[in-house]
Amino acid sequence: MAEFDRFAGDYRSVLDGAVGSAHYYARAKALAAVTQLGADFAGKVLDYGCGVGLLAAALLELVPRVQLTGFDVSAPCLHSIGEPLRSAATWSSEPTQLADCYDLIIISNVLHHVVPADRDMVLGELANRLKPGGKLLVFEHNPLNPLTRWVVAHCAFDDDAVLLWPRETQARLRTAGLHSQGCDYLAFFPQRLARLQPTERHLAGLPLGAQYMAVGHKP
Ligand SMILES: C[S@@+](CC[C@H](N)C(=O)[O-])C[C@H]1O[C@@H](n2cnc3c(N)ncnc32)[C@H](O)[C@@H]1O
Repeated sequence: MAEFDRFAGDYRSVLDGAVGSAHYYARAKALAAVTQLGADFAGKVLDYGCGVGLLAAALLELVPRVQLTGFDVSAPCLHSIGEPLRSAATWSSEPTQLADCYDLIIISNVLHHVVPADRDMVLGELANRLKPGGKLLVFEHNPLNPLTRWVVAHCAFDDDAVLLWPRETQARLRTAGLHSQGCDYLAFFPQRLARLQPTERHLAGLPLGAQYMAVGHKP
């Protein structure tokens, strides 16, 4: 049984309880991903460790032509995905069904659930599934943000979490054979300040956001 199987039915409500609005923070990550894709992007994207598809849904709202595959080790999480999202993408918990030619792969808030000894292997496998010129986007909790650390310490999902400092994530991207293209910070504003969310990309260099996005580029 995968760790997240037990949260498949109430994933969103657990996250809503922890951070206020799961959808709002998924949108913050999707907006950051769009800076790497462009809104007209129509290529192949893998959302690795997609959970119940919150980020996938936010991404499809912003980049509707994208060809999206969601993968997760938790089949019950995938089974909980309803229409219209189910039909808008391909979903799998079987690694052999994945392609090896993605334009972009997103791994969002997964690596802190992977034991450190296995992280290079996971990123290496994802790097192998990218086309030359493709990008790997790693979203992670920002350990520098005290509110993030508080949320992680109190969230039912995160009993096993070992957070990654941006420097670790960037070093692991390089170990996977990718050019590390730096790190953008995001999720600066709580939902009550949602009107400020579109301005976040101007703050991306400030290491204060609740999350960060590290970018690896395959030569
Ligand atoms: C905190 S959730 C993140 C879900 C989603 N990516 C998001 O950003 O909302 C972590 C997810 O990673 C999945 N996961 C954990 N280890 C994994 C692995 N080695 N391979 C693929 N998925 C994994 C879990 O099943 C869970 O659905």
